[in-house]
Amino acid sequence: MALPALGLDPWSLIGLFLFQLLLLLLPTTTTGGGGQEPIPRVRYYAGDGRRVLSLFHQKNLQDFDTLLLSADGATLYVGAREAILALNIQDPGVPRLKNMISWPASDKKKSDCAFKKKSNETQCFNFIRVLVSFNATHLYACGTFAFSPACTFIELQNSYLLPISEDKVVEGKGQSPFDPAHKHTAVLVDGMLYSGTMNNFLGSEPILMRALGSLPVLKTDTFLRWLQSDASFVAAIPSTQAVYFFFEETASEFDFFDKLRTSRVARVCKNDVGGERLLQKKWTTFLKAQLVCAQPGQLPFNVIRHAVLLPGNVSTDLHVYAVFTSQWQIGGTRSSAVCAFSLKDIKRVFEGKYKELNKETSRWTTLGVTDISPRPGSCSVGPSSDKALTFMKNHFLMDEQVVGTPLLVKSGVEYTRLAVETAPGLDGHSHLVMYLGTTTGLLHKAVVSGDGRAHLVEEIQLFPEPEPVRNLQLAPTQGALFVGFSGGVVRVPRANCSVYESCVDCVLARDPHCAWDPESRLCRLLPTSMPTSWGQDMEKGNPQWACASGPMSRSLRPPSRPQIIKEVLAVPNSILELPCPHLSALASYRWTHRTATVPGASSMVYNGSLLLLLREGEGGLYQCLATENGFSYPVVSYWVDSQDPPLALDPELAGIPRERMEASLTRVGGGAALAVQRSYWPHFLTVTVLLALVLSGALIVLLLSRLGALRARGKVQGCGNLPPGEKAPLSRKQHLQLPKEHRTSSGDMDADSNHLGTEVA
Ligand SMILES: *[C@@H]1O[C@H](CO)[C@@H](O)[C@H](O)[C@H]1NC(C)=O
Ligand SMILES: *[C@@H]1O[C@H](CO)[C@@H](O)[C@H](O)[C@H]1NC(C)=O
Ligand SMILES: *[C@@H]1O[C@H](CO)[C@@H](O)[C@H](O)[C@H]1NC(C)=O
Ligand SMILES: *[C@@H]1O[C@H](CO)[C@@H](O)[C@H](O)[C@H]1NC(C)=O
Ligand SMILES: *[C@@H]1O[C@H](CO)[C@@H](O)[C@H](O)[C@H]1NC(C)=O
Repeated sequence: MALPALGLDPWSLIGLFLFQLLLLLLPTTTTGGGGQEPIPRVRYYAGDGRRVLSLFHQKNLQDFDTLLLSADGATLYVGAREAILALNIQDPGVPRLKNMISWPASDKKKSDCAFKKKSNETQCFNFIRVLVSFNATHLYACGTFAFSPACTFIELQNSYLLPISEDKVVEGKGQSPFDPAHKHTAVLVDGMLYSGTMNNFLGSEPILMRALGSLPVLKTDTFLRWLQSDASFVAAIPSTQAVYFFFEETASEFDFFDKLRTSRVARVCKNDVGGERLLQKKWTTFLKAQLVCAQPGQLPFNVIRHAVLLPGNVSTDLHVYAVFTSQWQIGGTRSSAVCAFSLKDIKRVFEGKYKELNKETSRWTTLGVTDISPRPGSCSVGPSSDKALTFMKNHFLMDEQVVGTPLLVKSGVEYTRLAVETAPGLDGHSHLVMYLGTTTGLLHKAVVSGDGRAHLVEEIQLFPEPEPVRNLQLAPTQGALFVGFSGGVVRVPRANCSVYESCVDCVLARDPHCAWDPESRLCRLLPTSMPTSWGQDMEKGNPQWACASGPMSRSLRPPSRPQIIKEVLAVPNSILELPCPHLSALASYRWTHRTATVPGASSMVYNGSLLLLLREGEGGLYQCLATENGFSYPVVSYWVDSQDPPLALDPELAGIPRERMEASLTRVGGGAALAVQRSYWPHFLTVTVLLALVLSGALIVLLLSRLGALRARGKVQGCGNLPPGEKAPLSRKQHLQLPKEHRTSSGDMDADSNHLGTEVA
């Protein structure tokens, strides 16, 4: 749009000039969206009042690494460094400390630890690693105990912890790692603890072990190299017959890569009692298979970080959900993926072909079939033959891979832990909700829709400083997620539906926990008894449909009609800031004036706000429109009045409530007084300084060209002999002459100027 320069007073011209300069100065805002990757629809920074988190912390306590929910869901047991806590989580808000018992490593172990060159400041402590519910009256706990793992039973009384007596502490090798930095996993099944961890001080001997209970203690065989020396366990998941371990290790079966890490699932049978002559006190059912989490055409996500089973009906197919990162970094950042694995698929792979190591070539080949019956490694009852056990010693790797379904791939984040649950939606379907913690202290709430793709409802920054999420524990009865980290435990409510203030926003959020209640006109947590009149559309997220069915909008008014109009009174030739809150990162935003797009010459969008140089006759309706999911709606609507007698209101907007508001104004017209407010002050200072620089620069150029012309003329006239009086001012101005362009740019200079240049220099 051309600038109608005519009819503008000088102040308006200066104003327009300054405004254009301001537009040049402001950084252009990048538009989000696009691409395949899901981005969080809403981001909450630490301390955001819309997503209130409750932090439990305790003086002199750190490393809240282990979380255990009591059977009744009212108490959260927490294993921290040298202490175990019982927290009452029944009431919303900060968890209350019921009681706490200390369990420090003994002084002897601490001094041994320091003697072995481990740090007495960071390592030689008892980091709690295992905390499981053993029976109705006892917990079972293990810790690193200053690089000398130890375990103990802890008696409970009304879910209060009774102190640990020193004589009850036993050696815990194979159940807890030595080094707090090492990964480990443990699960208690039928009174027996299945653990996967490092079994030695050096951290070079991984073990998968079963302890406690009536059956014999069983271990993996180190000599047979069932596990690579760097195996790192992340999860243990029991099923009816077996326990599955999830871990990663260096792959030995691919000889073309130097050090390729690979993710695995291993299986041991619950009814395994070890061999009688062969494989004594060793697993006779240990099998492992490769887990694959990859998107076609991309590098695989080969490093598993955590896995969980979604509890459910055993008769249907159960799924394990796991987070993976890639061994390789692309552009300095790692990416993560969440994959779903069907337990059926895992079982099928363990019933398939084996791999076999050719001792001569050191290559793994596929072994056809075995005729040994019962099948070696199967969880069939009865003792295995020596033949079967001999077979098991060397056939522990399955030929086929377990291929997962990628649900979410995200670059730039490293997920550390996940928790999953299903949430019933208004449509009667249950939706998978995943909570994903990152290495930098972010929490992503992801919801998987019917097509198997996840969208990110929100991202919450959990801590003021970036640090890893160490553990996640859902407490479904409390409607909250608990996050363990170095400094404490944070309670995160599943959802805060109140942040969605309109039906449109509530529906577009596609959070299965929230739905629009048309009666109270609030976005609310979905109660267990589904109110049919509420609005939600998990599959499509279409407000047109979901927000039109309520009694409030039976008339099917166009949904783009504003809810409220903000009236702004402004003076012509002033700069107006009209904010537009960006409720969703998935939406694209644009501004309209009346019904057309706002002209770019006198406006600019900065940080979502419309900066507008208001000129005469340009008042009226300004709207910020968001388009998300193919649906457009006004986020905010302004009625800008620029005259003393108010503009006649558009009859179409009749009946919409109005609200007076102050838009931050910067008056550039009306005399010398510049009413500069708020954030414009720095911009205007910059503009003024820039203007001053430009003006003085132009002045200098002008001056120099004049001088140059004068000298050139003098040279022609006086054959190169300058009168002595003219030398002084020239030499004083020497530094100004250095940029040659200044002189050559002026029109009346020619070849002589070069000569002049060398003469001066
Ligand atoms: C939920 O959001 C509302 C509106 O932003 C806010 O006032 C309230 O404090 C929030 N509540 C929680 C528990 O985060
Ligand atoms: C660790 O050991 C050093 C020297 O042995 C000692 O000065 C320091 O106080 C010890 N720190 C702790 C936390 O014990
Ligand atoms: C729970 O286990 C502990 C430790 O083995 C045992 O002393 C206690 O009697 C058991 N309690 C019950 C109720 O079985
Ligand atoms: C599991 O699902 C089947 C059919 O889907 C149903 O008949 C059975 O009652 C369910 N069992 C439980 C424990 O929910
Ligand atoms: C962008 O706007 C938001 C509120 O709309 C404000 O909190 C934030 O400070 C602004 N950022 C900049 C860089 O001006």
